[in-house]
Amino acid sequence: MSSAKLTLNGEEYELPVVVGSEGETGVDITRLRGQTGAVTLDSGYGNTGSCKSNICFINGEKGILRYRGIPIEQLAEHATFPEVSYLLIYGKLPNAAELSDFREKLTYHSMIHEDMKKFFEGFSHTAHPMAILSSMVASLQTYYPEEVDGGEDPNIIRLMAKAKTIAAYAYKKSIGQPFIYPRNDLSYSENFLHMMFAVPTEEYAVPEVLRQALNVLLILHADHEQNCSTSTVRIVGSSQANLYASISAGICALWGPLHGGANQAVLEMLEQIRDDGADYKKYVAKAKDKNDDFRMMGFGHRVYKNFDPRATILRKQADEVLTKLGINDPLLEIAKQLEEVALNDEYFVQRNLYPNVDFYSGILYRAMGIPTNMFTVMFALGRLPGWIAHWKELREDPGARINRPRQIYTGPTENDFVPLDQRD
Ligand code: SDX
Repeated sequence: MSSAKLTLNGEEYELPVVVGSEGETGVDITRLRGQTGAVTLDSGYGNTGSCKSNICFINGEKGILRYRGIPIEQLAEHATFPEVSYLLIYGKLPNAAELSDFREKLTYHSMIHEDMKKFFEGFSHTAHPMAILSSMVASLQTYYPEEVDGGEDPNIIRLMAKAKTIAAYAYKKSIGQPFIYPRNDLSYSENFLHMMFAVPTEEYAVPEVLRQALNVLLILHADHEQNCSTSTVRIVGSSQANLYASISAGICALWGPLHGGANQAVLEMLEQIRDDGADYKKYVAKAKDKNDDFRMMGFGHRVYKNFDPRATILRKQADEVLTKLGINDPLLEIAKQLEEVALNDEYFVQRNLYPNVDFYSGILYRAMGIPTNMFTVMFALGRLPGWIAHWKELREDPGARINRPRQIYTGPTENDFVPLDQRD
């Protein structure tokens, strides 16, 4: 085991070094404060590893993304979302019997308790579906309070199966249409799209092009190591909070426009540019102007300092799906023009700002008929198996401790209470 040396206040300390299976190096500071009295400071955790994990590997410099070692490009081309979910959660690709059993469970546990439908009556029709999803997921615990210690956790299946139903019901609520029950004869993606777009008054067959596009979108979003929302799930899970509460917290973290909310923000940005004479160069200039708080949403990434492999796949998917659907979406053209300018503009190149997963996903969702305010819900449905996998990995780690970072206090030093009548 190699080590790192630290000199602090004239003292020299030796810190162990951990090397991962892909050669990543981590200086282990688990005992730093006990040895030195000092802590580290890393705003935004850009240089801090919070855990060791076997689930997902990213190489930001080379644009590599693998789930349990399998490249995302192969999974997007050959796998189904249930297969990828099983791979992430249980650590291996399922064999035929395991996959059949898993898919059957994902299908037969899709319904939510009839009483939970009453929850939707309390939401305004303008309620953001992320607020509905996070509160309904937390509320699932009130119907399934028992926790399983070791072995197959039925709450994992329940959550994977019911989240798509809650998401589709949130959409139906927003458009004032009746809920469509899940069906036992449909695959995961078909079932969701059927619940989204079927109506009681006529038959609805899910177009294969939409099923295939959704399958790829869900796979591409399924995991991404210690991103903001996954770290949130791990932090909440580290207090031994139940699965539903931990995932509900992750949904809330994903909602922010700097994270999963970016796909909605990208679409709104492209519409703003379209409505402003499609003057995309004006907006590139705004993104570069430090006095302008406008950001090129869908660009940049904390880890990828090269292309985001998911964006590359989604750009191709967007072209293919819109062509198959006969859609000529001006927003796709604007997106491609923005990408072209950014890839050749010094400001973006110098800062390694490339399109990320959120840049093209919204174009696809929109082509599929999914409304903009549902985009981040779609991200959450994809990310669900990744969140669950990390929660499970943490809870099965005998050495796991409650996550409790330290800080460097910079506030007032000691001072006395001042009675009210003596204050300025
Ligand atoms: C996701 O972590 C993950 O893995 C997340 C994710 C996942 O799968 O879980 O990949 C999903 O969240 C993708 C990111 C979606 N968010 C956006 O598209 C929002 C727009 N992008 C940014 O706000 C930003 O790039 C972040 C949030 C993605 C990354 O932020 P960082 O790493 O903290 O970078 P930064 O804000 O410090 O920016 C560094 C520089 C700054 O300029 P300088 O101070 O050096 O002059 O780059 C600039 C920033 O101003 N910059 C941008 C920009 N992003 C960064 N300038 C214009 N437009 C942008 N989008």
